[in-house]
Amino acid sequence: MPVPDASELNMEQPADGAVKATISQMFSTPVARISFPGAGEVAAPLTERILMRSGALSKDFGYKTETAGELTQWGGEPAVRLTRWVCAAAGRFVESLTGQSLSEAFERSAGREGEGSGGERQVRVAASRSWASVYRPGDRHEAHFHPNTALSAVYYVAAPGLCELHFLDPRPNVDYFDAGISLAGDSHRTRVTCKPGELIIFPGWLRHSVPVFHEESARISIAWNLNYILA
Ligand SMILES: [Fe+2]
Repeated sequence: MPVPDASELNMEQPADGAVKATISQMFSTPVARISFPGAGEVAAPLTERILMRSGALSKDFGYKTETAGELTQWGGEPAVRLTRWVCAAAGRFVESLTGQSLSEAFERSAGREGEGSGGERQVRVAASRSWASVYRPGDRHEAHFHPNTALSAVYYVAAPGLCELHFLDPRPNVDYFDAGISLAGDSHRTRVTCKPGELIIFPGWLRHSVPVFHEESARISIAWNLNYILA
């Protein structure tokens, strides 16, 4: 059966011409993926520090191990350098999406809440929390999101191969009813595979998971909870 063009979607077409239907894809979710230019320099020192830290000074959840304490406090210069770059990249991510500087975007949002300053306060992205995750064979991380976080960032430090990250459909009601035909990837997971040296940035409300890890050597990643602060 031929697919009708947009004009045929309207049952009451006026005599004076075609009526076009407009179809919009709404509620898209931005996810950025960027390679860190200094990856080759920070990989070895970060791996060493994280593995040292993942002994007694770590949290073993049974499904994976996370380092305790702020990465920027114990990770040394490579961790500070990487975090600075991640915050800058996250700021550019937001600015490219909003088409405004962070300060302008922040002022506009504050204005909507009746809390605009009338001027332009300096705003930047900063890490509220940072930690490393070490996955061993059999480890995984079930679906979760990071509360009180504007942006989540994950950087892959070292792995024997590609690192998988799954994003879950963020629309809350899509699981309620299966109509039989999916219009917009309803309930689908989006699978992303990254190499060590790559960074992923996404909204803090987006649920994600890590599937079961099967390789022999460790998969090491770093996560940051990022928020906007007044500089
Ligand atoms: Fe996470």
